[in-house]
Amino acid sequence: MQMVTWPNGSLVPALGQGTWKMGEDRGRRQGEIAALRAGLDEGLSLIDTAEMYGEGAAEEVVAEAMAGRRDEVFLVSKVYPHNASPTRLPQALARSLKRLKTDVLDCYLLHWRGAVPLADTAATMERMREAGHIRSWGVSNLDVDDMEALDRPDCATNQVLLNLAERGPEFELQPWMQARSMPLMAYSPLGQGPLLLHPALVGVARRLGATPAQVALAWCLSRPGVVAIPKTGDAARVRQNAAARQLQLSAEDHAGLDAAFPPPRRKRPLAML
Ligand SMILES: NC(=O)c1ccc[n+]([C@@H]2O[C@H](COP(=O)([O-])OP(=O)(O)OC[C@H]3O[C@@H](n4cnc5c(N)ncnc54)[C@H](OP(=O)(O)O)[C@@H]3O)[C@@H](O)[C@H]2O)c1
Repeated sequence: MQMVTWPNGSLVPALGQGTWKMGEDRGRRQGEIAALRAGLDEGLSLIDTAEMYGEGAAEEVVAEAMAGRRDEVFLVSKVYPHNASPTRLPQALARSLKRLKTDVLDCYLLHWRGAVPLADTAATMERMREAGHIRSWGVSNLDVDDMEALDRPDCATNQVLLNLAERGPEFELQPWMQARSMPLMAYSPLGQGPLLLHPALVGVARRLGATPAQVALAWCLSRPGVVAIPKTGDAARVRQNAAARQLQLSAEDHAGLDAAFPPPRRKRPLAML
């Protein structure tokens, strides 16, 4: 299984699981729990969630999926920017830990940059790490100028939008992070679904006897230091996505994908959802 070394020495799988939209519909809840568990069975043991997702409901789904299996999981959650101050962050973290039925997160991320000074958030994150409530911390949706303003070598990761149709980070941010051995968490690696209908992607998938989702994920996995976190509430799709780890894209496949989804030639503002 392809692994990525986390800055604190942990080994995390390059393919994990997202949870946005989980917990919002009671009728889907059992399917979502089953999907996350199927993912754990497949070794997709990094689970990404956030206090924002379903206003805590996704974290509760994750808690059920992790029941009896916490030790298998590299658990990531995120704090709202308006909760990222020295007084509010510890309270938001305590609420997340309670919903997740655990006493420690493997990584806690600032969801995006808001009004709280980055230095205050970073110092509070570090305080939470020293107190043993989190094992590492990072950020999300920060471009290079924000990362330089943050100026913290102890920031473990930056989670950003990266998929075949959103390749902007390849120009500057990804090399910047790679130079610092900082893993990049690629969110929405399936482009939230519509990307999977693109004729070029469908064509490559057909040639390889794979699905478009598997090709989109194999493309992410071909990038060094990248952890992709696709979301699905369907156990069969989890298994399908997990099999992307066995798919090797050839130089010809990459050339075909580059023609349809050209890599960036200049700096563009970081896209986010
Ligand atoms: N930091 C941030 O600001 C941020 C922003 C966005 C996302 N994220 C994180 O990244 C995770 C992934 O991103 P995302 O949820 O936006 O989008 P995504 O993973 O790119 O796509 C999810 C969509 O693809 C569908 N899907 C999954 N596997 C499939 C397959 N094999 N075939 C066809 N469709 C498939 C899912 O539907 P079903 O569930 O019905 O299968 C869902 O509608 C999120 O869940 C969240 O944890 C973070």
